[in-house]
Amino acid sequence: MLGAGLATNLLIDSGGKKMKTIVITGATSGIGLETAHILAQQGFEVLGIARSEPNSMQAEEKILAGNPKAKVTFFLADLLQQREVVRVADEINQYLNDQCNGELFALINNAGCVRSWYMTTDEGYEQQFALNHLAGFLLTYKLFPALRKAQGRVIMTGSESHKGIKVNWDNIMLLRRYNPLTAYKQSKLCNILFAKGLNDRYSTAGIHAYVVDPGLVYTDIGNKETGGLVNFIWSLRKRYGVSPDVPAKTFAFLCQQEIPPKGLYYCLCKEKDYSRQVTSENANRLFELSERLCDIRYGKV
Ligand SMILES: NC(=O)c1ccc[n+]([C@@H]2O[C@H](COP(=O)([O-])OP(=O)(O)OC[C@H]3O[C@@H](n4cnc5c(N)ncnc54)[C@H](OP(=O)(O)O)[C@@H]3O)[C@@H](O)[C@H]2O)c1
Repeated sequence: MLGAGLATNLLIDSGGKKMKTIVITGATSGIGLETAHILAQQGFEVLGIARSEPNSMQAEEKILAGNPKAKVTFFLADLLQQREVVRVADEINQYLNDQCNGELFALINNAGCVRSWYMTTDEGYEQQFALNHLAGFLLTYKLFPALRKAQGRVIMTGSESHKGIKVNWDNIMLLRRYNPLTAYKQSKLCNILFAKGLNDRYSTAGIHAYVVDPGLVYTDIGNKETGGLVNFIWSLRKRYGVSPDVPAKTFAFLCQQEIPPKGLYYCLCKEKDYSRQVTSENANRLFELSERLCDIRYGKV
């Protein structure tokens, strides 16, 4: 844990209200950083997850620059590796128990990556599937007791690219004839299926899950750990993207509503249509497969 600002039990904001805590993965750049910035400005306590200490320090500086009283704390983890997800979740749970009455108001599963070729994690899982979907699936499971206590929200950073594709159930890592764009699109379909599965199981317990479509956003996602064509195409394509503060407003909208919004898929603070592949049957199938791959079992309410 890095840079814990005020060290008091149960943080109180200047208006005398208990601060609501939000965990954001990938809070060091692009959409996640801007979302952390806006939420901290709006009086939420932000717990960011970063994969590198220098990046976390820069991000913290940026968030505090506009609002020195913001409450932000970074935790370090390489979310590609499941043991790291488990370790950082344990650290965050400890923090939530010590500082936040064991309550987590929202978890934003935003960290994501693009790859140019087939690369695997230590567990042998394809990296886009592992980071864009499995890391959030496992982190949500580990933070679930705190989310449940706060009747919290889980928000995934999805994409319109989830449309026009089906999950390849027999070969979910796309091992044979790997196409990086197909792997990315499938991982984004998994984001929305996961949110659907959470709502099917836990909305009666007061937990609500959402997916934000950020649109095309000017970030460096396609220029990190990519090569050749993917890097080149993204460098051209991102020029047409909006600033990350545009999608950040939709995350803020979903966190600000006193009564949890009813929809599943949001863009520009409004509900949007999603793929017909997003069914309870597919959501269940993904839940069961992901549980096996993470060696966990989400319980019943
Ligand atoms: N940009 C778009 O047009 C667009 C469109 C649709 C959806 N999205 C989605 O938006 C999300 C955020 O992407 P972005 O565009 O904002 O790109 P970004 O600026 O590259 O942000 C990705 C974040 O994930 C972090 N990250 C990457 N690998 C990690 C790992 N192994 N462990 C922990 N954290 C890791 C990055 O850390 P570092 O800062 O250290 O690199 C960064 O904070 C992704 O889920 C992406 O699929 C983006």
